[in-house]
Amino acid sequence: MLAKIEQLLQEIDGLTAHSAEELEALRIKYLSKKGAINDLMADFRNVPADQKKAVGMKLNELKNKAQERIATLKEAFENQDNGTAELDLTRTAYPIELGTRHPLSIVRNEIIQIFSRLGFTIADGPEVEDDWHVFSSMNFPEDHPARDMQDTFFIESHPDILLRTHTSSVQSRVMEVSQPPIRVICPGRVYRNEAISYRAHCFFHQVEGLYVDKNVSFTDLKQVLLQFAQEMFGPETKIRLRPSYFPFTEPSAEMDISCDICGGEGCPFCKYTGWVEILGCGMVDPAVLEANGIDSKVYTGYAFGMGVERITNLKYKVKDLRMFSENDTRFLKEFEAAN
Ligand code: PHE
Repeated sequence: MLAKIEQLLQEIDGLTAHSAEELEALRIKYLSKKGAINDLMADFRNVPADQKKAVGMKLNELKNKAQERIATLKEAFENQDNGTAELDLTRTAYPIELGTRHPLSIVRNEIIQIFSRLGFTIADGPEVEDDWHVFSSMNFPEDHPARDMQDTFFIESHPDILLRTHTSSVQSRVMEVSQPPIRVICPGRVYRNEAISYRAHCFFHQVEGLYVDKNVSFTDLKQVLLQFAQEMFGPETKIRLRPSYFPFTEPSAEMDISCDICGGEGCPFCKYTGWVEILGCGMVDPAVLEANGIDSKVYTGYAFGMGVERITNLKYKVKDLRMFSENDTRFLKEFEAAN
């Protein structure tokens, strides 16, 4: 009898339960009327009188232990809601919020991918620039309004140092250290001293492109831009080039795409013109090639530049530019699917 009690004591020490049903089964096995302990109690009267005291004490110990063990297992269940008797210490205290890629990054990456497939490589340059790379090497006349304090953030006490107003400065940096063929895109942040509103911000993002080689023509430019527009906005997209002016290109143009909301019919979004403007472009002015050490009698080139915010607005119909820099997660989460 004592040996049987010892064996049960050991068994009870090692008891575990993984569900309420398992626990109930254990209770029935040990503590119910027909359970192992009651069986022993029933046998107790057969124990010789001289052993009754020792066996009785052991039997009580067994009963208490079994009750305690089952109560402990039950408590563990009640403190947990996942039905396991063991605590999972690796569980986090609160749900982790997963971030999403910023819409401007999504669109910038898409622009980069399209031009990469067309053979362009990525070039990078500093956001704090000197006057030469932003303006002088780009053929800006001394009195050009873009140099004016109204548009440009200059570094106080260093009038020659400024925050770049366009990524054309990177084109200049590429040309001064390399010879054609050059085929690069320059994605980056630019700064302009503008009052912040739904349609303007003091910083935004551009992707500019530059291709310089022998016999580069306006036709090449147009073809690459058509390809870009159709990959970005769909194969039905049409483009139109309007004459324009930039100091660094001649001839210059602005490119519109057919409005993808009304399909060119005319709607409030395109101000009933059927077209929306997306970028500036042109043939690199020979003066720019020369200023950057490239022989303009041998080489020609084209350049284009677009605002990433503008493309994102058109693609995702974001009406207020400020949304891009407010970090409102409700807005950012809307782009989860485009990640
Ligand atoms: N640098 C021009 C801008 O910031 C864009 C542009 C680039 C236009 C290249 C023509 C050619 O507006």
